Amino acid sequence: MSESLHKRRKLIAGNWKMNTTSSRALELAGQIADSATQYLDNPLLDVALFPPAVFAERIAREVLSQVRIGVGLQNCYNEPYGAFTGEISVDMIASLKFGYCLAGHSERRTIFKESNELVAHKVHALLKSDVIPVLCIGETLDERNSGRMFEVLTAQLDAVYQSLNSHTAERIIIAYEPVWAIGTGVSASKEEAQSAHEFIRAHVGRFCDSEKVLILYGGSVTNENAFDLLSQHDIDGALVGGASLVAEKFLGIIQSADKVLSSI
Ligand code: 13P
Repeated sequence: MSESLHKRRKLIAGNWKMNTTSSRALELAGQIADSATQYLDNPLLDVALFPPAVFAERIAREVLSQVRIGVGLQNCYNEPYGAFTGEISVDMIASLKFGYCLAGHSERRTIFKESNELVAHKVHALLKSDVIPVLCIGETLDERNSGRMFEVLTAQLDAVYQSLNSHTAERIIIAYEPVWAIGTGVSASKEEAQSAHEFIRAHVGRFCDSEKVLILYGGSVTNENAFDLLSQHDIDGALVGGASLVAEKFLGIIQSADKVLSSI
C-alpha cells in the first residue's frame, strides 16, 4: 500500500437525516457509543454522528461527552444572525462546539434547490468559524449516463475551492455521494467509487495538497459492502444514511474501517 494511505485517517459518519425522535435519538447514540468503544481506541479512526439538529446538543452533552465520537449538524445557513426564520447559523453551531457540519447534501440541493454558490457560502462560513465542513458532491444517474459526471463534480468543487488558500482548503472533508446510490440499496461498485474519488483528489490537488484531504464515500453503504469500499486507495471513510440508524449495522461499518486500517 502506498505511503499516502498510511497518512490519512478514516472517518465513519452517520447521517440520520430527518429520522428518530428525542428518546430514540438518545438511545441510538448510546447504543453506538457502547458498542463502538473498543474501536474508538484506534487513533486513526474517527466516528461522527449527524443527528437532527434539535437532538444534537443533548446527544453531545448527555451521551457522548466522555466518548470520542464527534457530533455535527446536517445543515446551516451562511449568514451570521438575523431575520432568517428557521435557519441555524454557523456561529450557533460553533458556540455549541460541534465539530462538523454537512454542506450541500444532495437532498438539500435537490429538494431545497441549494445552488453551488449557496453551498460555497456555507462552506466558507463554516471554515471561518472553525467548524469542519463536510462538503457533499455527486452526480445524478442522468448526468452520469450522459457523460457529464466529471463536469458536474468539477463545478461543485470549483464553486467552493476557487477562492480558498491551500491551508484552508485542506480542512474541508469531501463526501462523494452519487445521487443514484443514495437510499436505493445500490451502492457504487468499489471500482466506480475509487475512480470518482481519484478524479476528485486529482482535481482538488489544483487547490491544495489533496493527499491530506479526507474523501468519504456515501450511498447505500452497509456493513456488507463497507470493507471493499474502505479498502480502496482514495476512500477515506463513509457517510452512512440508512445503516447508521441501526447500531449493529453502523458498528459493522466501524469494524470494517478498523480492519482496513490494521491491514495497511
Ligand atoms: P444511504 O446510506 O441511506 O444511501 O444515504 C447516504 C447518504 O445520503 C448519507 O448522507
